Amino acid sequence: MAAQNTSLWSKHAIFEKNSIILVLGVLIVISFGGLVQIAPLFYLKSTIEKVEGMRPYTPLELAGRDIYVREGCYTCHSQMIRALKDEVERYGHYSLASESMYDRPFQWGSKRNGPDLARVGGKYSDDWQRAHLAAPRSVVPGSIMPNYAFLFNAELKVDRIAENMKVLQIEGVPYTDEQIANAAADARGQSNADDAGNSAFAKRWPTAVTRTVGATGKLTEADALVAYLQMLGTLVDFKVYDAKANLR
Ligand code: HEC
Repeated sequence: MAAQNTSLWSKHAIFEKNSIILVLGVLIVISFGGLVQIAPLFYLKSTIEKVEGMRPYTPLELAGRDIYVREGCYTCHSQMIRALKDEVERYGHYSLASESMYDRPFQWGSKRNGPDLARVGGKYSDDWQRAHLAAPRSVVPGSIMPNYAFLFNAELKVDRIAENMKVLQIEGVPYTDEQIANAAADARGQSNADDAGNSAFAKRWPTAVTRTVGATGKLTEADALVAYLQMLGTLVDFKVYDAKANLR
């Protein structure tokens, strides 16, 4: 042991006996580790790989997303499929960063009282989604999810969607001025409730899917939420994406 005492090891006692020096030492070591991770990112053009098929939310989907956030659905549901075998087997292809590139704020989360919703779009019909929202136990008997029946009585306020899109445009979401000017009309137009509006909508949003509305024929908050849920995770065609990834 005598050899150790004369070596560099004996200097370590300075750190062990003096807490302030120890804290400073820890800070220096941690910031070095941080720099190694963070500095290279400044030299990348983008940390998000652009992927075919991604588009911003339509006005109706965006309104639905706001209701999702307002109702705190994220307190029980995550929206990020991790690249782990069990996750991919249960939920589908792991999530890509680009799939939440237009989310402000993103809804990744880690709280999973319910299943991950990143690819729930198209898993069920619009009718199933409506029945489940109104009374989850009517379709999944053991469910602990609350009833959201009141969303079916709340008519969707379409007037504020344009303002919302405008702010997102400032933040870099590529909404065109035309899409913003027609937000309210397109929110109605994305549903089967309005035929003339629907064809105008389809011109402005060629890759978006028209949704059926509930029995009342009125556009409700529930319709917006269902439109949002039904598009989650459906934009990227993973047959094409994986084929290209294999070539890289
Ligand atoms: C208290 C926790 C909780 C909250 C809050 C909650 N959920 Fe759920 N959710 C669950 C549970 C548990 C399940 C699984 C059982 C079921 O299907 O009902 C579920 C299932 C779902 C499913 C079906 C997923 C699948 O893959 O089968 C959807 C869609 C869904 N929830 C949407 C929502 C939306 C939208 C909201 C907000 C309006 C919400 N949830 C709020 C707990 C919750």
